[in-house]
Amino acid sequence: MKDIYLDHAATTPIDVRVQRKMASVMKYTYGNPSSLHAKGIEAKQMIEDARIMMAKSIGANPKEIHFCSGGTEATNWAIKGLAKAHPLKKEIITSTIEHHATTHAVEDLVKEGYTHTLVSVDAMGFMDLDQLEAIISEDTLVVSVIWGNNEIGTIQDIKKIAKICQKKHVYLHVDGVQAFGQINIDLSKLQIDLLTLSAHKFYGPKGIGILYVKSGVELDHLIAGGSQEHHLRAGTENVLGIVGMAYAAYLMKRTIKSYIRHLTELSIDLYERIRAIAPDVILNGPEIGIQRLPGNLSLSFTDVTSNSLIFQLSERGIYVSAGSACTSDSILPSHVLQAISVPETHIHGSLRITFGKDSSLSDHPYIAQTLEDVLDTLR
Ligand SMILES: Cc1ncc(COP(=O)(O)O)c(C=O)c1O
Repeated sequence: MKDIYLDHAATTPIDVRVQRKMASVMKYTYGNPSSLHAKGIEAKQMIEDARIMMAKSIGANPKEIHFCSGGTEATNWAIKGLAKAHPLKKEIITSTIEHHATTHAVEDLVKEGYTHTLVSVDAMGFMDLDQLEAIISEDTLVVSVIWGNNEIGTIQDIKKIAKICQKKHVYLHVDGVQAFGQINIDLSKLQIDLLTLSAHKFYGPKGIGILYVKSGVELDHLIAGGSQEHHLRAGTENVLGIVGMAYAAYLMKRTIKSYIRHLTELSIDLYERIRAIAPDVILNGPEIGIQRLPGNLSLSFTDVTSNSLIFQLSERGIYVSAGSACTSDSILPSHVLQAISVPETHIHGSLRITFGKDSSLSDHPYIAQTLEDVLDTLR
């Protein structure tokens, strides 16, 4: 049977070169980085080398890189850590199309008396920046924005958003989990205060990520305990994950231009083929181009449900998602599709196809034919 994985926004397989590196760390570098003997020093050195490598990949200073367990923790940490460090500011602003890591972290704070103010998006998912500028108040602590949307691929204009935040003297946290690898990130050219990244979205291991914290930003810890990560994130470091992530980031950065070209070519080709077999299809989010994550095709069909499509395609060796993986067991359409007002006729039949390194044009005739058969069967 075919085995065509098209769910790279949910997660990516670990690059074989990263696997090899991690296997060697697993075997030989077992020391606790806090130990004072040679085994500990060796492990600690690996972490610091990885920190430098990670920093270089995003144009940051190594001191600004803080390792943690991934995108969800980093985002919770950014928002709650700022709140703890700046208790007088009680408003958090986000867009209506954030990942649940953000919205649920903010909801936790709402229970403690904070205000969550939402900025609307247009039909393509772009934030209303005039609205953003107008609503930032004296009470605003942070604006938290998803750079590349995990469901519909919209790339926000972070440069403009950063300028607004700077002008209004509020912090900017950016969820860059889907962005790294598909957008060339250079923090030396952007006024971002905090940035969240997660290794399993760029061919690194799961359960490891970073929170970039710009020098000078006051942030409290989320997890209390030992003095790891500049006293900001306690717990024995995931040396294996850290080394794997930094190497994955390095590899990704080296090939980003050709990777983006590859993903764009795949998106254009498959979208054209799908339009030919299903003229009712809608592309959710911006048109394919520089304002859309190149590997994301979010599509909606009439007269089918996402879950039945996913199941039928999976039976035929094609693995895709509906909206985001985290909402896939919910029968409600995702808040993102609702926020961009996908028509009622289409909103229940959405599919998220996300390409990766090993995706191939040669699979497209099979995918299009299979989708046509499945649509015929289901309708
Ligand atoms: C945009 C976005 N933010 C945050 C996360 C959470 O990251 P993690 O899986 O590393 O916790 C995800 C994961 O799907 C994501 O797509």
